[in-house]
Amino acid sequence: MSFENIKWIWKNGEIIPWAEATVHVSAHGLHYGSGVFEGIRCYETESGQPALFRLNEHLERFYNSAAVYNFKIPYTIEELSDAICELISLNELKSCYVRPICYLGSASLGVYPGKCPVEAAIMAWSWSTYLGAEGLENGVRVTVSPWRKFHSSMMPTTAKACGQYLNSILAVSDAFARGFDEAILLDIDGRLAEGSGENLFVVKDGKIITNNASDSILMGITRDGVIEIAKELGYAVETKSLELADLLHADEAFFTGTAVEITPIREVDNQIIGAGKRGIITEKIQKTFFDAVAGRDSRFLKWLHPVERLVAA
Ligand SMILES: Cc1ncc(COP(=O)(O)O)c(C=O)c1O
Repeated sequence: MSFENIKWIWKNGEIIPWAEATVHVSAHGLHYGSGVFEGIRCYETESGQPALFRLNEHLERFYNSAAVYNFKIPYTIEELSDAICELISLNELKSCYVRPICYLGSASLGVYPGKCPVEAAIMAWSWSTYLGAEGLENGVRVTVSPWRKFHSSMMPTTAKACGQYLNSILAVSDAFARGFDEAILLDIDGRLAEGSGENLFVVKDGKIITNNASDSILMGITRDGVIEIAKELGYAVETKSLELADLLHADEAFFTGTAVEITPIREVDNQIIGAGKRGIITEKIQKTFFDAVAGRDSRFLKWLHPVERLVAA
């Protein structure tokens, strides 16, 4: 991933040059993680036109995350949608990752946010595979983290909030330090929660199983799409709490997420999962997903928000 060649950023309603898009050191969000964000992918489609994947659902989650923390985003969904399209076009991106963020700015540093202003910004940049092209094809090696996922009685697990990611940072840093590609966090009761930035699916005897909101997960938009794709492909899908043993004895397992897309899991703490490579069902779901995001499958065109090219300024 690289921020090279990004010329423009959207900040507080205006498109400004990259170098001017700064935050003051006294910002509340910097000190306490008081902010919410989204991660959205835009794919180049068959026709060459870029299209955002499930833009509306991501923006709805953005507003819902903000509402939990009582941050009032001073823009409408339509304004943010237009800003995202304008930014992609101005930065001349075809496929990219889009990061809207809304955070508390500078006014006071009491923990209670008080009158801190709500600032908003959007970045868009090229970000290819998150866990590597090799991982997408052959699967990744993960470890069960010694860090537990926080419970919804501690923080709202269904909100995508900045400070909440310190939990994920601890888990993924520990996984990297021990030579793994990613961490899986258990919930407070020892059941499977999710990866540091992705949801988890297992396949057993032809059935596709994932956990749900009561298991301290972020309700992923890719997760939701994969459930729909799997049903469309004729598979039985079940959502229920999962134990670590369900993962260790699965025929196949994979992560889903905007960044990670659909990435097979081939090992958990050096124990081989299934055949130790991308499984057949995972591959079918992955293929349908990549057809969907590229506009090659008419069943899923409803998920795409085309980005109109602006006439060069
Ligand atoms: C903790 C966590 N879980 C799950 C996901 C997957 O969510 P989505 O598919 O909406 O990107 C993400 C990524 O946003 C995440 O950060």
